[in-house]
Amino acid sequence: MTTETPQTYNFNVVKQFAVMTVVWGIVGMLVGVVIAAQLVWPQLNFDTPWLTFGRLRPLHTNAVVFAFGGCALFATSYYVVQRTCHVRLFSDKLAAFTFWGWQLVILLAAITLPMGLTTTKEYAELEWPIDILIAVVWVSYAVVFFGTIMKRKIKHIYVANWFFGSFILTVAILHIFNNLEYPVGWFKSYSIYAGVQDAMIQWWYGHNAVGFFLTAGFLGIMYYFIPKQAERPVYSYRLSVVHFWALIFTYIWAGPHHLHYTALPDWAQSIGMVFSLILLAPSWGGMINGIMTLSGAWHKLRTDPILKFLVVSVSFYGMSTFEGPMMSIKTVNSLSHFTDWTIGHVHSGALGWVGMISIGAMYYLIPRLFGREIYSVKLIEMHFWMATIGIVFYITAMWVSGIMQGLMWRAVNEDGTLIYNFIETVQAMHPYYMIRLLGGLIYLGGMFVMAYNLFRTVYGAKQVEALIPAVSHR
Ligand code: HEM
Ligand code: HEM
Repeated sequence: MTTETPQTYNFNVVKQFAVMTVVWGIVGMLVGVVIAAQLVWPQLNFDTPWLTFGRLRPLHTNAVVFAFGGCALFATSYYVVQRTCHVRLFSDKLAAFTFWGWQLVILLAAITLPMGLTTTKEYAELEWPIDILIAVVWVSYAVVFFGTIMKRKIKHIYVANWFFGSFILTVAILHIFNNLEYPVGWFKSYSIYAGVQDAMIQWWYGHNAVGFFLTAGFLGIMYYFIPKQAERPVYSYRLSVVHFWALIFTYIWAGPHHLHYTALPDWAQSIGMVFSLILLAPSWGGMINGIMTLSGAWHKLRTDPILKFLVVSVSFYGMSTFEGPMMSIKTVNSLSHFTDWTIGHVHSGALGWVGMISIGAMYYLIPRLFGREIYSVKLIEMHFWMATIGIVFYITAMWVSGIMQGLMWRAVNEDGTLIYNFIETVQAMHPYYMIRLLGGLIYLGGMFVMAYNLFRTVYGAKQVEALIPAVSHR
């Protein structure tokens, strides 16, 4: 037994990141809705360069992945590492620096991307001065996180921290190596890699941004918040450790599946495909472990919408990690690549897995951090259904549109000429783009419901004490 009280912990920085998760979620998804609308009505760019699809798309991806997802990961990892190690963060000042530094990065991204300043590498578009700031903030994050682990009072390092730790370390390495570039001015640089090496490094980065930023970190959230909310221990702790090592070892080799049928040597493409297929096993091991944690507590799913968010998110994780390995098979990829099928896959992972687990964790955290009872459980329930229905519209529309698009591109007459010209495929996709837009609007609407509910929670709902017990093992 240790003697920490809630005052012992630094929850201030957790609060700041948690609030910004909701704010950036709304901003990033709003931009997503705008670009979805532009794909339906291209004139919505109003002939203004900074409103064009090409500039707003990277703004969307950066805002949802790094601002929304990033803030959720900072908030939860800082919370979990303190709770499970029974100590305050290693340094309050450095933690505050990571908060303000990360917000500055986001602000600079929001200015430079619409201006068209970009390295052109997907998910690594920001120019070199911002890259340096990111590296400094990220190394500080690593110092705070691992410093806290070092001074822990509990000998055992809970599995969620292993996932958070691997995410922090790997993202640092990926970011630094993929962004090595020659600056030719304040806002322009060229990658030090050329040709196919550049592509290989880029997708080693890109795929592991998915593997470590959008997966390992969020698995850390799963391993803490599902047991907490379900009030059940992790289904199999042994499986969680096997899950960890198998997942991080396998992910790092799978990047070449983004470069099938390119100038990358064939054997490298095949390695990417084989490791992607193997990846199904640890991914599903983790999914089963998350879902089975509800053993003996299934009835709670009927009444607890936070648990619904967490568990349905893990189901989407299972779905996208089945779809991903299938899409990595070369023959399947020859149909799916360049089509909306990829966009459907991305958003079943992004809206289903990343979005829902972050939303569930924020509903758990924010009332506790502010010592308030949630304003309305009914509104959480409503948000849950809006999110679920929104995703279903989005991803089913993209699957149909993507597979149709791929099949139309490859359809040939007996003499080998194409049956459809390109514009016919674009026309055929139009109705599905409307459905995607509708799905996005519903999902975004749910985020506004969340913001309202949490606002009423923080300002005005009943104050409750000791929502965070003074002493708890984890
Ligand atoms: C209201 C919610 C959202 C809407 C309406 C939306 C819409 C879109 C649209 C229209 C695109 C461009 C598709 C194309 O180029 O054909 C896109 C791309 C993308 N979005 Fe979203 N999005 C939403 C939420 C999210 C979230 C929460 C995430 C991540 C956590 C995310 C991650 C991405 C990524 C990574 C891409 C690039 C995919 C690729 O290059 O293959 N989106 N989104
Ligand atoms: C076992 C796990 C997974 C495997 C093997 C996998 C595999 C793939 C494959 C083969 C592609 C298409 C590449 C192409 O044709 O260019 C892809 C794209 C993508 N996947 Fe996954 N996926 C997995 C899980 C996930 C999850 C859980 C997420 C999100 C949270 C995700 C996010 C993405 C994104 C953002 C892209 C688009 C990248 C781009 O071209 O911009 N994937 N994935």
